[in-house]
Amino acid sequence: MDLVNSDSQLLHDSPFLKACRREPTDVTPVWLMRQAGRYMAEYREVRSKVTFLELCKNPDLATEVTVTAAERLGVDAAILFADILLILEPLGLDLEFAKGEGPVIHNPIRESADVDRLRRMDDVAPLDYVLQAVRSIRSALRPTTPLIGFAGAPFTLACYAIEGGGSRHYEKAKSFMYRDPGAWNALMTILTDATIVYLNAQAAAGAQALQLFDSWVGTLGPEDYRRFVQPHMRRLFESLDPTTPSIHFGTDTSTLLELQRDCGGQVIGLDWRIELADGWNRLGPGVAVQGNLDPVTLFGPFAEVERQTRRILGQAAGRPGHIFNLGHGIMPQTPVDNVLRLIELVHETSSAHRVK
Ligand code: CP3
Repeated sequence: MDLVNSDSQLLHDSPFLKACRREPTDVTPVWLMRQAGRYMAEYREVRSKVTFLELCKNPDLATEVTVTAAERLGVDAAILFADILLILEPLGLDLEFAKGEGPVIHNPIRESADVDRLRRMDDVAPLDYVLQAVRSIRSALRPTTPLIGFAGAPFTLACYAIEGGGSRHYEKAKSFMYRDPGAWNALMTILTDATIVYLNAQAAAGAQALQLFDSWVGTLGPEDYRRFVQPHMRRLFESLDPTTPSIHFGTDTSTLLELQRDCGGQVIGLDWRIELADGWNRLGPGVAVQGNLDPVTLFGPFAEVERQTRRILGQAAGRPGHIFNLGHGIMPQTPVDNVLRLIELVHETSSAHRVK
């Protein structure tokens, strides 16, 4: 019992969780979205034997790739290995990761009758493999490394469900929203309900923080965000376990930041399209921020990574509540050496800043 208590104290005092709470830290915590992914040989090796969905559904392999990435990189947090689209399966959508094509939904939602046919996810049993992975990762990680659980935000999930896959302009999803706001709200309600159950179950299984990926919400203008997304996100954040910090991530959201902040969540993601200092000033002192290096810089030369990293840390200026990250996920062709050097650079530079 003592061991359990001292482990939870170690986690509580980790730089990552302190930064989520906007408490001062000796070093700026850093982790990277998609840190366990194809840019890393260890990942490609595991992935060569199974499909992507098999990997997500095998708790032992999911544990291996999560923990290997966190330890090899020396980051301040691990992120559960899974995918935002897994939740669509128990709702009745037929998901496939087609080779070279990315995700495909074979029976997309195109009209209100398709929403009526969706199943509800009243309990998390169909995604029990994710909870098993959370428990297994938690026990395999060092006791000082927090584990981030996650889910897709309802808007981004709705885009995939309606488009049937990736999209550039989201014309099917957005015209569904404009044409039939009632069916849109019914769909968003189903997705929000399922996400609340799923994220709270991840926290109960051992995740120390929760990130909502609203990767595609930047396609909306502020007025549409307010009408079609904000009420659902507000209810979502209000329904999450209040003892677990949450991170609200999106891309291309420079015009939406205040609206996102007003939904709730302790940490707001910033991408590289906005200066970190400007974004944080607009958000105000009541939230922490995560970001915001352009993942493309990691292709090199490293001098550019160094310049931009120092600029970002300079703009954060040691204010409590900055979690260093990329503005979006690491890309598959990224040289691993640059990623390792980036983590070291953030730690060294930020601790030097603190001593001054
Ligand atoms: O960050 C991590 O290391 C944790 C694992 C994680 C993955 N996907 C693994 C993954 C997380 C947090 C996600 C979230 C996710 N999935 C998002 C939100 C983040 C973002 O990038 O905006 C989205 C939009 C998805 C949907 C998704 N999954 C797409 C569009 C693709 C195809 C991408 C591609 O480049 O092929 C995936 C597949 C996927 N998810 C991979 C990984 C490591 C690659 C799959 C493979 O091994 O072939």
